[in-house]
Amino acid sequence: MCAIPRLFLFNSVSIPLMLVIIHSPAQLQEIINQNRKKNRTIGFVPTMGALHEGHLSLVRKCARETQLCIVSVFVNPTQFNDPKDFEKYPVHTQSDVEKLLTTRADVLFMPSVDDMYPEGLQTEDTIDLGGLDQVMEGRFRPGHFQGVARIMKKLLLMTQPDKLYMGQKDYQQCAVVAHLLKIWKMKTKLVICPTKREKNGLAMSSRNERLSPETRAKAGVIKSALYYVKNNYHKLPVELILEKARLKIREAGFETEYLEIADARNLQPVDHSISKNQKLVCCVAVWADGVRLIDNVLID
Ligand code: PAF
Repeated sequence: MCAIPRLFLFNSVSIPLMLVIIHSPAQLQEIINQNRKKNRTIGFVPTMGALHEGHLSLVRKCARETQLCIVSVFVNPTQFNDPKDFEKYPVHTQSDVEKLLTTRADVLFMPSVDDMYPEGLQTEDTIDLGGLDQVMEGRFRPGHFQGVARIMKKLLLMTQPDKLYMGQKDYQQCAVVAHLLKIWKMKTKLVICPTKREKNGLAMSSRNERLSPETRAKAGVIKSALYYVKNNYHKLPVELILEKARLKIREAGFETEYLEIADARNLQPVDHSISKNQKLVCCVAVWADGVRLIDNVLID
């Protein structure tokens, strides 16, 4: 275990704070137990590292709203359906620690694969995701949400948080996690935070750093296409809007893997002729020069 001190300036008074870095689930358990004994509220931000402003906004909110803010950094191998994507996933441990030192996170949990999967990576077990893993991301990344569910079960059992902070950028993942909390009858409150965006509207993602500067500049078109759908949903025929949105993406030189409007709660396809009072979400996955980007917007 290692604790890195840093100064936090509050009303012109410097308060020394610690970021405790731990690797083993046993150390995490010890910290949780100590804090539970003191009736402290526990907040948890699960991440795969390569932290950006989107993650940091979750961490800051967690630190404001709970008394012990735990952040995990673990690149979970079981949620990568494409081994090449796993190999290419950015790892920036040093800068992750530096960035967390600018927040008020209390604990950084960085386990190894053996710590998280002592039983091995293969499993015959499947977790009931209520059909949420059959649509959109689930259709194009088979097994992905089973991997997310498997690691979230372990992380949630270890941290037992009062509040769990996740970003709306991964809308379908949030829906899966909300479903898991429900079926496992956990009291944890899921706090879904708004997507943080780069200046041109591109949703912040650890994958963005794999884009060339030119592609990154053009990738703002993904948000424009989503907002075109949102702003025209009640005005024009749905197929026409979706077609135009796909065209915008194509004209920027990108390939749309899916662009769909779904029921915002169960993510199932909607019958647009009767969807007037239904809460909807438009989700998209785009290939931009070999990098897969996702985004979404709620439609009222
Ligand atoms: O969104 C992520 O970074 C991951 O899917 C999560 C939730 C940390 C599980 O590995």
